[in-house]
Amino acid sequence: AITSVTGRRVLDSRGNPTVEVDVELADGSLGRAAVPSGASTGAREAVELRDGDPARWHGKGVDRAVRHVNTELAAVVVGREAEDQAGLDAALVAADGTATKSRLGANALLGVSLASAKAAAAAHRLPLYRYLGGSDARLLPVPMMNIVNGGAHADNPLDFQEFMIAPIGADTFAEAVRMGSEIFHTLRGDLLAAGHSTGVGDEGGFAPALRTAEEALDFVVAAVERTGYRPGTDVGLVMDPASSEFFRDGVYDYAGEKVRRTPAEHADYLVRLIEAYPVVSIEDPMAEDDLEGWRDLTARIGSRCQLTGDDVFCTDETLLREGIAQGVANSVLVKVNQIGTLTEALATVGTAHRAGYTVVMSHRSGETEDTTIADLAVATGCGQIKTGSLSRSDRTAKYNQLLRIEEQLGDSARYAGARALRR
Ligand code: PGA
Ligand code: ZN
Repeated sequence: AITSVTGRRVLDSRGNPTVEVDVELADGSLGRAAVPSGASTGAREAVELRDGDPARWHGKGVDRAVRHVNTELAAVVVGREAEDQAGLDAALVAADGTATKSRLGANALLGVSLASAKAAAAAHRLPLYRYLGGSDARLLPVPMMNIVNGGAHADNPLDFQEFMIAPIGADTFAEAVRMGSEIFHTLRGDLLAAGHSTGVGDEGGFAPALRTAEEALDFVVAAVERTGYRPGTDVGLVMDPASSEFFRDGVYDYAGEKVRRTPAEHADYLVRLIEAYPVVSIEDPMAEDDLEGWRDLTARIGSRCQLTGDDVFCTDETLLREGIAQGVANSVLVKVNQIGTLTEALATVGTAHRAGYTVVMSHRSGETEDTTIADLAVATGCGQIKTGSLSRSDRTAKYNQLLRIEEQLGDSARYAGARALRR
């Protein structure tokens, strides 16, 4: 049974405070989890509780959330069995009592939820992926590695937030990491040679002062080729325009490019991009408030390209069900902190899989050294993970954990490869 719950304030990768929780069991087993934080958040995400005191942390303090962990939530879970994740998470949700987890904070709830799972795994002397996923958990995900940052994650003019490479042709996860790292360094040299900055954005990808998606994609394709890989076969391209961020008054306002596109023009532009470049997946191609655009685009190119809903679903099973019924997207991004408990996040994964939607396990732009999502990707067998660039320890920590998992699984490990993106 759980004997103690300790919340504390630690720093995230942007240098903002976030919640970390330790859960201890009667047998001495310890689980620890730190909570990530987004910048381009979906409107319907569970509420991350911030203190809002401008005199401290520029308003971003999490002292109230930490206090809620140490008082109300500790009182709810101490004495419970950590193995009963569903019961524990239901109790957390009930204790909060709001639909959006705004009273105690989804950041407070998630820390307790994940730390409890990790304590239970420790009590069973099992790695988390095996404790949650059983002996079937042996599929290593295709990493979608973010090598160019724009949008809300950098201060360059690029309107699209993320340009990623997915080593779909690798034989193992370790090979995928090697390919990604090699391409990352080739790209660095190419950007330098072209007179661009090689400073990085929030997710560790380069943030050169490029204006258009084509310029970024040209650099990425050239780097893939110059490193010796075949674009589209060995390495697929992935974009997250994070379209909700620049959808205003019914139009897509490309501020960097200084162009405004109607939803139909924006969709045409995306279709041109997937025809001109080996793009295998686009996340949030349309804004969370543009469901008509989402439906149209899914009907038009959903059979040729993975279309992943992030802001539009917010890892919420109910929103996902509505989207499935309406033909919105064919894939869902899962960010545990968008919903606030492990049980709810796993329910979303189950609903997606039953509907034939693919699942991409994901970090946030504000991360920590916590590697829980690496284990969750293997536990769910979802076959895809998005966890940033090949630089910055907040990003590479997840890749490194997956390297350890692959090593531990030995001959039974399987790399998801291109088939992970097929529905
Ligand atoms: P966020 O960005 O964590 O800032 O929301 C990641 C994403 O949009 O996928
Ligand atoms: Zn996104």
